Amino acid sequence: MPIMNWDKSLDIGVKAMNDEHHGLLDIMNQIYDAQAAGKQGAVINTLVTKLGEACTEHFAHEEAYMQRVGYPGFSSHKALHASLLSRYGAFATQIRAVGGVASDEFFQFLKFWLSSHIKGIDTKYAAHATGAAR
Ligand code: FEO
Repeated sequence: MPIMNWDKSLDIGVKAMNDEHHGLLDIMNQIYDAQAAGKQGAVINTLVTKLGEACTEHFAHEEAYMQRVGYPGFSSHKALHASLLSRYGAFATQIRAVGGVASDEFFQFLKFWLSSHIKGIDTKYAAHATGAAR
């Protein structure tokens, strides 16, 4: 059972970014489901690396998009991405150090991050880009 499902509240109105968010959610659920099925070690480490790479790529795409649409909150949003990646890196190091086992704190971090960042932060550049009042 996935730890988090996609729903309409995560739709920011920018299809390319929605698709990438969906992809991040899928990998997060793959990690959760793999561990729930008793897997650990290389399987988990590989998925954690994959999610980190997907996040790095997504943030780069999103930052380019924000610049293209002239979003005034670009710098603070970019700083938030850097902070999230730094925290993610610390979790990934910890997971590898214990032999490929993700902690509850890691999943809570991911869930909170994806949900609150998309709904509370990403919606702002989307509103700017689409001219919608949110
Ligand atoms: Fe979609 Fe700002 O991350």
